[in-house]
Amino acid sequence: MSFLSKTLSRVKPSPTIAISTKAGELKAAGQDVISLSAGEPDFDTPDHIKAAAIAAINAGKTKYTAPDGIPELKQAVCDKLARDNGLSYTPAQVSIGTGGKQILYNALMATLNEGDEVLIPAPYWVSYPDMVLLAGGTPVIAPAKAENAYKLMPEELEAAITPKTKWFIFNSPSNPTGAGYTWDELKALTDVLLRHPHVWIMSDDMYEFLAFDGFKFCTPAQVEPKLYDRTLTCNGVSKAYAMTGWRIGYAAGPVELIGAMRKIQSQSTSNPNSIAQWAALEALNGSHDFIAENNAVFTRRRNLVVDMLNACEGITCPKPEGAFYVYPSIAGLIGKTSAQGTLIDTDEAFATALLSETGVAVVFGAAFGLSPAFRISYATSDEALVDACTRIQAFCASLT
Ligand SMILES: Cc1ncc(COP(=O)(O)O)c(C=O)c1O
Repeated sequence: MSFLSKTLSRVKPSPTIAISTKAGELKAAGQDVISLSAGEPDFDTPDHIKAAAIAAINAGKTKYTAPDGIPELKQAVCDKLARDNGLSYTPAQVSIGTGGKQILYNALMATLNEGDEVLIPAPYWVSYPDMVLLAGGTPVIAPAKAENAYKLMPEELEAAITPKTKWFIFNSPSNPTGAGYTWDELKALTDVLLRHPHVWIMSDDMYEFLAFDGFKFCTPAQVEPKLYDRTLTCNGVSKAYAMTGWRIGYAAGPVELIGAMRKIQSQSTSNPNSIAQWAALEALNGSHDFIAENNAVFTRRRNLVVDMLNACEGITCPKPEGAFYVYPSIAGLIGKTSAQGTLIDTDEAFATALLSETGVAVVFGAAFGLSPAFRISYATSDEALVDACTRIQAFCASLT
């Protein structure tokens, strides 16, 4: 019998981290690799946020805090949710965790029993199904369609709900597609959810501020206040504030659920890093001017990548509303063969051949539950993007 737990056999390591690692290894070995696989902004954390962390260290704010966060940060989260989302919460309804990831994981651990289903639209962020499996639940995948710009339609949501559905995970703008739901599109989904009072909503708003061309972000509890009592609104500072390494995420929801999440956190990791909490406080309360500047850069890069990919024969790339990803379909390339003889029969074969034959690292669509496609993260320099897309164009043109 294996020494390792049976739970572990249910999950796989994150494919996005695996590909970034592989690209890093090839680079370290001297190969000319451009990695478009990492899910983090290439900008530095803004100076005023770093200064708040340094001040926290100097002020000795380096001790244990309350297990699910300092009161000041919980209050700042309440203020943020009121200011940006029109949502009213008290600090007792807020949990601070070690990244958005821990927040989602705690919520699933706190609520799932064997047999409970969690409805996840595909393409999905790679960690959702595995976190559900780790927590003992059953992921149920509801595929969205490329022709609907990868947004789930209300009838598709309705058809996927069963009496066992406990949570519906909603993520807009999305990782991996960048697709953002408009108010009306989201309202169509919340209308369905209203008819199923046993289903709770986990809204992952991690890319809220990464929205382009005037796209207006909205979140389920805001669009349908009648869902407030069964919605967990999750967010964090990782993406918008270029703070991926600081590891601060947060959620707001019903007091009982927040208390259950606190119990799990207090018996596992305890408080998120005290210094990072003070930095996150500054992120939420301080100047947000840099977000518009960063978004102007992201918009330019998105347009560049979408145009260059759509110029490739066999690739169709929708222009998404937000995040820093695009999710081109390669339906037109399946069945072709690469110059070095690889049959492109899956998107994984495409990504593998692309990396070995051109040095461009992307993540294949199967990792996100919807094929044949791949994800590009355009959070890198314009030069690298032009170079990578030129190589992808040449690769596609060379397929026979
Ligand atoms: C959709 C989505 N949710 C949550 C997270 C987790 O963010 P964090 O780094 O704060 O744990 C990520 C990170 O890639 C993400 O893409």
